[in-house]
Amino acid sequence: MQSPISIHGLRGGLLTATLLVVALTARSADTPVTLKAAFKDDFVVGTAVNRSMVMGGAGFRRSEEQGAKDIALLKEQFNQISPENDLKWQLIHPREGADGYDFGPADAFVNFGLSNKMDVVGHTLVWHSQTPNWVFAGTNPPPAVTNAPAVAAIGTNAPGTNRPGPGRFGPGGFGRYDGPRASREELLQRMRDHIHTVVGRYRGKVKCWDVVNEALADGPATNVLRKSLWLEIVGPDFIAKAFQYAHEADPDAILRYNDYGLENPVKRRKLITLIKSLQEQKVPIHAIGSQAHVNVGTTFETMDQTLTELATLGLPIHITELDVNGAQGGQQGFGADIAGNAATTGGGLVSDADRKLADAYAGIFRAFLKHRDTVKLVTFWGVNDAVSWRANGKPLLFDGTNQPKPAFAAVIAEAEAANSKR
Ligand code: GLA
Repeated sequence: MQSPISIHGLRGGLLTATLLVVALTARSADTPVTLKAAFKDDFVVGTAVNRSMVMGGAGFRRSEEQGAKDIALLKEQFNQISPENDLKWQLIHPREGADGYDFGPADAFVNFGLSNKMDVVGHTLVWHSQTPNWVFAGTNPPPAVTNAPAVAAIGTNAPGTNRPGPGRFGPGGFGRYDGPRASREELLQRMRDHIHTVVGRYRGKVKCWDVVNEALADGPATNVLRKSLWLEIVGPDFIAKAFQYAHEADPDAILRYNDYGLENPVKRRKLITLIKSLQEQKVPIHAIGSQAHVNVGTTFETMDQTLTELATLGLPIHITELDVNGAQGGQQGFGADIAGNAATTGGGLVSDADRKLADAYAGIFRAFLKHRDTVKLVTFWGVNDAVSWRANGKPLLFDGTNQPKPAFAAVIAEAEAANSKR
């Protein structure tokens, strides 16, 4: 019979994994089995948190009582937090000018992390999404929409792609701004003011920043940079400028570039091209953020290959937004881009979802452990399935009542197997 903590035993079936969950839960009465303890010699284990988790009370999809349990689980299991939304430009700096900031929720987030002795990550400074229109607005007429080829920063965009396309969340709320534009100088000044104010406020408290999020394009290899308003108005050096400003504001902060879909070889190649170019320009970039919004088809081999290639850059790798989508609709791609991957949580769960999720998480963590010299932080994108942005895909280790799922046991088993070999 296989040992209950053997990773291969878990592959043998849901029953073994379920038994292990029961055993782990039973053990948890006195000393709970925790992610942060299991991986303490390998990497920090964090989670995204929403506003009610750091401020208390009822929240998104959660009663006050459920919220209190979420907070208890958060404190028990994790030693790092990332803000799901509250440090994004739209939330922290919704209006123009020095008094246009709403610091309350962001302050609560940072204070929660520090008072619970957790590492605090800032997410995110420069992004094409969840950025208010005023940031890009000015008096310069927007260019006419054409089908002409456009030259991008690195590489050349394919013909027919010089179109704005929909906003990340479609028209409305977060739709792409298409009015008269700021000049390059105006936009860089706004970026600098924003970064200096936000990073400066939390200097010495926020340990690590996602300076630029998702600047890479999806699709063919020839489209390297996303045709965002940042790229169109400032030019390709908007990325270097953002890192420069963040470094000025907090020279001790770990500055990372964050993107999704790096499990896809074409997107990964673009990432490597971009980061090498930044390194050649001596841009202060200190870590690669790989979001890792993946699906239950993801294997050890995929993650191993991804990490092996990313490691060639010589920077620490942070897994920044891990979740493993179990919805049928999410099995076609690795994207986090809602506009381009509308079916991510459609179609109900895949068959045998709990077992597939446990298998996928086992392989993914086995790869993280193999690359423990490079992987320094693993952040889940949510505490439990109920608060996940992909709730229908039940992508996390704890269910909506905060009970550990077989995938939790699978991940702990990987840690124990690795520890027993040392
Ligand atoms: C991206 C962003 C996150 C979050 C997720 C889900 O991954 O970096 O902040 O918005 O998408 O929408």
